[in-house]
Amino acid sequence: MPSFKAFRIHEQEKKIVARFEQLTLDDLAAGEVVIRVAYSDINYKDALAATGAGKILRRYPLVGGIDLAGVVESSSDPRYQKGDSVLVTGNALSETHDGGYAEYARVKGDWVIPMPPGIDEFTAMALGTAGFTAGLAIHRMEHNGQTPQKGPIVVTGATGGVGSLAIDMLSARGYEVVAVSGKASSTDYLRSIGASRVLPRQEINFGSRPLESVQFAGAVDNVGGEMLTWLTRTVDLWGNIASIGLAGSAELKTTVMPFILRGVRLIGVNSDNDSSGTVTQGGSTQIGYGAILSYFVPESRKADLRSATDDLIHHLKADNPRTVATPGGSRNVRIAGSNGLVTMLSNSSPFGGSETDALLTVLRPQGLFYLVFVAPEKEYPLLQDTFQRMSDSVRFRD
Ligand SMILES: NC(=O)c1ccc[n+]([C@@H]2O[C@H](COP(=O)([O-])OP(=O)(O)OC[C@H]3O[C@@H](n4cnc5c(N)ncnc54)[C@H](OP(=O)(O)O)[C@@H]3O)[C@@H](O)[C@H]2O)c1
Repeated sequence: MPSFKAFRIHEQEKKIVARFEQLTLDDLAAGEVVIRVAYSDINYKDALAATGAGKILRRYPLVGGIDLAGVVESSSDPRYQKGDSVLVTGNALSETHDGGYAEYARVKGDWVIPMPPGIDEFTAMALGTAGFTAGLAIHRMEHNGQTPQKGPIVVTGATGGVGSLAIDMLSARGYEVVAVSGKASSTDYLRSIGASRVLPRQEINFGSRPLESVQFAGAVDNVGGEMLTWLTRTVDLWGNIASIGLAGSAELKTTVMPFILRGVRLIGVNSDNDSSGTVTQGGSTQIGYGAILSYFVPESRKADLRSATDDLIHHLKADNPRTVATPGGSRNVRIAGSNGLVTMLSNSSPFGGSETDALLTVLRPQGLFYLVFVAPEKEYPLLQDTFQRMSDSVRFRD
């Protein structure tokens, strides 16, 4: 492979120096998958790393860029083939491993995420780590009971990458969104992406009492410091505060009052090592969140839907003896004009605790079509709608 262009960060005489250079693959940190990078993006952390304003790199020199999307060029990891469209976010990129600001990246197979359906490399990086983090925050808040009916969500650092995408996502999900911004000139922009109110950061009275009057049902905080302290004092009973960033300060000075008197939950969000719903143990990858879609050929070609489904469950149990059918957990459904069966199973989750597996089966001329929707038991109710929408979208090409 000829040499390629990379944006590389050095430490020289205790100063950070970053520049474009020509590199070869041998200059990059070791990994099983070589990716031809199509896009990366610029995050708060990337700016800290490249300017030296924050200590991000723990090894020098390194190619910058905490995320990337591209196409696999070569792979010694059997899960990935040349030509696969993939993305990588976080892990060690631009900390101890060369990152996304180069025409090629070489990364560990466990960090690689197949490009999700409906998303291309440009969109993946337009959303980027900022969008992924905003999504994670909202997911975790909703997992802890946040709903649009409970009232407005305040988003701080609103004009930033995470803030803007959080506003967009929250308003699309039906939340009333209050944006806190230090930029008076951005009010129209913030309204255009879904904020119903904009609070100028400089005009906020942070107060000093352990509990102030309730103003919000929940919060997405990118700022930290006195802003986060104020949020703990002003979020309503059982509200969730997602703590994402420290654009203002890494400090937090509060009391236990919001937590014990209002039941407020402070949720830490870390996009860095999210496992994308899978856990790798002993070389095999287990799905903890997601869907598996396949065909099964029953023992008897004449089997009806119920006996073919029982046959499939028997095979699933042989592969994983901890699979058990939930009592009374089977119902008839119509899928794409055909009779289907949904059978509720349970298993142990690779994320710990129990897992709910909803098994949808439909008899087709080529065998038993099945779709297993997998989620940890306590999160299943939250993801049930998604399963329903996936089931409703099934179409058969005869
Ligand atoms: N936990 C994670 O996994 C994770 C992932 C991504 C990012 N982050 C962190 O989240 C934060 C936001 O990231 P980003 O990518 O959205 O950054 P960004 O695009 O640079 O936006 C940061 C925003 O914070 C506000 N801000 C800047 N300086 C401030 C100050 N001194 N006091 C108060 N507000 C200030 C500004 O918004 P306004 O002018 O509108 O107020 C700015 O647009 C950063 O701290 C970043 O490190 C964490």
